[in-house]
Amino acid sequence: MIHSAGLLSSDKIKKAELVSFYADLEQEIQKPVRSRVDMGLVGVLAFFEPSTRTRVSFEKAGLDLGVRWIHLKPEDLSLQKGESYEDTFKTLSLYRPDFLVVRHAMSGFCDLVQKWTELPVFNAGDGSRDHPTQGLLDGFSLFRRNRSRKFTIAFFGDVSRSRVARADIHVFRALGYKLFVTDDGQAATRLFAKAFGLKLIARSQLSRMDVVVALRVQKERGSEYVMQPLRRRELGAKTLLMHPGPVILGQDLSYDLCDFSANWSLIQDQVQNGYYVRRKLIRDLSVRLKGTA
Ligand code: CP
Repeated sequence: MIHSAGLLSSDKIKKAELVSFYADLEQEIQKPVRSRVDMGLVGVLAFFEPSTRTRVSFEKAGLDLGVRWIHLKPEDLSLQKGESYEDTFKTLSLYRPDFLVVRHAMSGFCDLVQKWTELPVFNAGDGSRDHPTQGLLDGFSLFRRNRSRKFTIAFFGDVSRSRVARADIHVFRALGYKLFVTDDGQAATRLFAKAFGLKLIARSQLSRMDVVVALRVQKERGSEYVMQPLRRRELGAKTLLMHPGPVILGQDLSYDLCDFSANWSLIQDQVQNGYYVRRKLIRDLSVRLKGTA
C-alpha cells in the first residue's frame, strides 16, 4: 500500500492507488516547484549499502522541502563496537526524528526496523527482496509515456537476485502490463520465472517487446552470473530500454547502448522520476505528520 507513513514493500500496492498517485504526481510536476518549503521535518538517511540514485534523490527531494537530514554512516556508528542493529534503531528513535530511509543488504531488514521503531520507514532497498520506490518510479516512467497502454515488458539479466525486478513485477502487474523473463538457460532464472508466474521468452524475441528492463549483475550478493551484454540490434525499432542503474557497460549493456538520452532509452527519465516520486512521498508524509504541504 502507498500510504503516507513510509513505504516498506511493493507487493500490496493496488492499481487504483498507483493511478491516483501518478495522476497527482503529474500535476505536481507541472506546477512550479516551491523549493525550500520549511516543513520542519527531520529525516534519517541510513544506508548500509552504497547508493547514488536512491540516496541523492531522497536527499535532494527532502532538501527542496526543507527536510533536515541526519546521515548515518555505518563506519561511524557504535555498531562498530558491537552494538546491535536493534539497539541502534531503538536509540535513534528516542531522539524523535520524523522518518527513516533505510537500505541494507539483508532481505527483510526494513521490516525488522519497522518492528523496532514507530517512525515511518521508507525501504530504499533490502537485499534481493524489494525496492518499492524504484518500482514506483519505474511504473511512473511508463505511465507518463502512455497512461492507457498495456505494455509488454521483458526482464533481461540477473533477474533472480534483483530486488528491482521484484518491485517492478508488483507495480507493473498492478498496472496491467504483460511481463516476461528472458530465458538465459540458467536454473535460477527459470525458477524465478516459475515462482512469479512469468513466461520465458528467447533472447531473439526481445525485439517484439514494448520495453526491455535490463538488470545489473548482483556481484555484491555473490552472483557469478555471466551473459553477453544486451546489444542495440536486439531491440526493436520501437522498443524502449529501461535500466535501474548503476549500468555496467560491457557487462549488462553493450557500449552501443551507452546513450541514455536517446529516444529509445528511458534510463534518464527513470533517474529524474526518482526525484519526483520521492519528493511526493515526503510531501505526503509531511501532510500527515504536520498538516502542511
Ligand atoms: N537504482 C538504484 O537503486 O540505484 P542506486 O544503487 O544508485 O541507488
